[in-house]
Amino acid sequence: MKKDFIALTDFSSAELSAMLDLADRIKQSPQEFDGALKGKTLGMIFNKKSTRTRISFEVGIFQLGGRGLFLGPEDLQLARGESISDTGKVLSRFLDGIMIRTYSHSDVLDLAGYSSVPVINGLTDFNHPCQALADMMTIREKFGKLDGLKLAYVGDSNNVAVSLLFACVKLGLHISLVSPQGYTLTKEALEMSREEAESKNLSVVLTENVQEGVTDADIIYTDVWTSMGQEQEQQKRLNDLKGYTVNDQVMQWAGPKALFMHCLPAHRGEEVSASVIDGPASIVFDQAENRLHLQKAVMVTLMQ
Ligand code: CP
Ligand code: NVA
Repeated sequence: MKKDFIALTDFSSAELSAMLDLADRIKQSPQEFDGALKGKTLGMIFNKKSTRTRISFEVGIFQLGGRGLFLGPEDLQLARGESISDTGKVLSRFLDGIMIRTYSHSDVLDLAGYSSVPVINGLTDFNHPCQALADMMTIREKFGKLDGLKLAYVGDSNNVAVSLLFACVKLGLHISLVSPQGYTLTKEALEMSREEAESKNLSVVLTENVQEGVTDADIIYTDVWTSMGQEQEQQKRLNDLKGYTVNDQVMQWAGPKALFMHCLPAHRGEEVSASVIDGPASIVFDQAENRLHLQKAVMVTLMQ
């Protein structure tokens, strides 16, 4: 049975931990995995822009001995109305895996349903699982553990926040999501992880109060206020999210051991101040690098 990588809630904690262990091994001795996906081809459908996801997948599959095929928004007959079902069936005859970044999450679920090869979610409006699992790899590197840490996410509780919630609950971290009204986590996402969080005694706190949310956090995380596809709301978002910038005061509230994370791209002066993202607590470039190692582990797990 093929396995897809669409949401972290589709995996057990043990399966996710195994992918993190594999990613560590791949990072430590990449040459061991040189030919792991020899002769395999990953189709990479991008209906939105990307720097990290695109390059880390393309470089990753190349380093594993396979090749990546970049398929931009205008490249496929999908753009002219060919159905997702026909596209999935046809691509499965040529490819060994499909990575897709697009708007609607249900399109990715449909594509996976019609494809006989693994489908990897490279970001939808709903979530971003590759990002959050790579972030867990980075956190484990920095703290030597995941269990019992506290992550505070500040800003728009968007696709990245949803995947961070799922990752935290699967891997034993407490999470607080700090957002103003109108920008809080969807009920659907909360519901998807509520039972598991309760059974593991993990706290999932939603608050509008930044100081309350970040106190004692080990990790302060933020993301852009205007995600791809929301450009027409930009001015309103800038106004509504004022007061949720991660700045030196927010880092002080968290305490001296707190590290700063951001999935990037960042907007200095909006969701984060330059002093924080370019300061000593920031680990954003280690985070970006780990996308490569983690996604190689995902591809090896799904496509080998
Ligand atoms: N963090 C992330 O997914 O970056 P890109 O949009 O550049 O791929
Ligand atoms: N929330 C952002 C993440 C980009 C990696 C977006 O969806 O645009």
